[in-house]
Amino acid sequence: MIVNEQLGTLRERFRWFATEARERSELYHHLSATLADRPEVMEVLAAAHPNQQRPNLLFAAVHDVLLSGADDPLAEYYPSVGGTRPVGADTTERFAAFVRRFADPIDQRIRTRATQTNEPGRAAGLRPALASVAGSDRPLALVELGCSAGLLLHLDRYRYRFGDVEVGPAGAQVHIEPQLRGARPEQLEIGRVAARTGIDRAPLSPTAPDDARWLQACVWPEDLPRMRRLADALDIAAAHMDVHQVRGDLIDHLAPTVRAAPADALVCVLHSAALAYLGGQDRTAVERQLDELGTERDLARVGLEGGGFDPFLTLEADLPDPAMGAERFVLGATTWQDGYREDRLLARMQPHGAWLDWLGEAGPVQRSTTG
Ligand SMILES: C[S@@+](CC[C@H](N)C(=O)[O-])C[C@H]1O[C@@H](n2cnc3c(N)ncnc32)[C@H](O)[C@@H]1O
Repeated sequence: MIVNEQLGTLRERFRWFATEARERSELYHHLSATLADRPEVMEVLAAAHPNQQRPNLLFAAVHDVLLSGADDPLAEYYPSVGGTRPVGADTTERFAAFVRRFADPIDQRIRTRATQTNEPGRAAGLRPALASVAGSDRPLALVELGCSAGLLLHLDRYRYRFGDVEVGPAGAQVHIEPQLRGARPEQLEIGRVAARTGIDRAPLSPTAPDDARWLQACVWPEDLPRMRRLADALDIAAAHMDVHQVRGDLIDHLAPTVRAAPADALVCVLHSAALAYLGGQDRTAVERQLDELGTERDLARVGLEGGGFDPFLTLEADLPDPAMGAERFVLGATTWQDGYREDRLLARMQPHGAWLDWLGEAGPVQRSTTG
């Protein structure tokens, strides 16, 4: 049973999500705006973990039931399952009827799943960032915090085009081609990836059909190119299976994982759309651990985040804003040397890699001591 206060919060979240979805999904925009006045639908989210009581979890749960083959008229509105019907006056009614009809499988997903989109398109920023901090001379040990299914740990197996330059294996199944808004990244080559480790409190398996389908369900149903690219990235991951996934909280596993990396490798800690899920104290704890690890071995960090990512968001605040809109991530890199750390803002990027505003060496820098 949901209490009034929770309902008020949910209503606000649905209204906010309607604004968020306006540009990219007419279906979710419409549903989110209208469901804000349908408590009997929103309240199915009461079964979710408190920080997951959000519209995108409900939408992903419904999408997942549809992707699993549910035969229902709601499918007519979902391009991901062949639907072609435009959003109309009865779409919300159909959605509400679907939520009633498939109450059990939706509830099961809402209780057990979290929205943990794994977006290979984010490699559009991570790849040149890695090249700029790590170079190509040494083997790399990649450690990803909040890796989901670990798809970004295969970033060296994707093909990229940055303007007129291409890099990555010819014939790779996944192609990443961000629209360049800033400079073209100069350095693109990276060293051999000697180890790939991902930490996640709920890692997904690229070979488990339910997990792979859940990842697809987290993509918005009109975005067929993203769904295809995700399927290709899952194929690559399934063909290699050389990512070591560590289940648990990243705060607990960061230091032991970095310390266990091959001694001759340069450890590069990656994170994207992950730190935003941490509270302020935990984010500080991550930075302290990195500072300590940076005194023990050669270390670099590349992070791509939309919120809670300092000092990079502070560095970004001083840059001109050429009408990028609110929907952007910042890409930052940190290196540690002789008791100093250097944080450089490398780029701004659309959260799924559609465009990249690369600053590289021209990006603002903050230097500090770690001792
Ligand atoms: C939005 S997903 C991003 C996945 C991937 N980094 C990407 O950009 O495609 C965030 C992931 O972080 C994980 N996560 C969030 N907080 C965590 C924590 N404290 N410890 C471990 N994993 C966490 C979630 O389980 C989820 O898989």
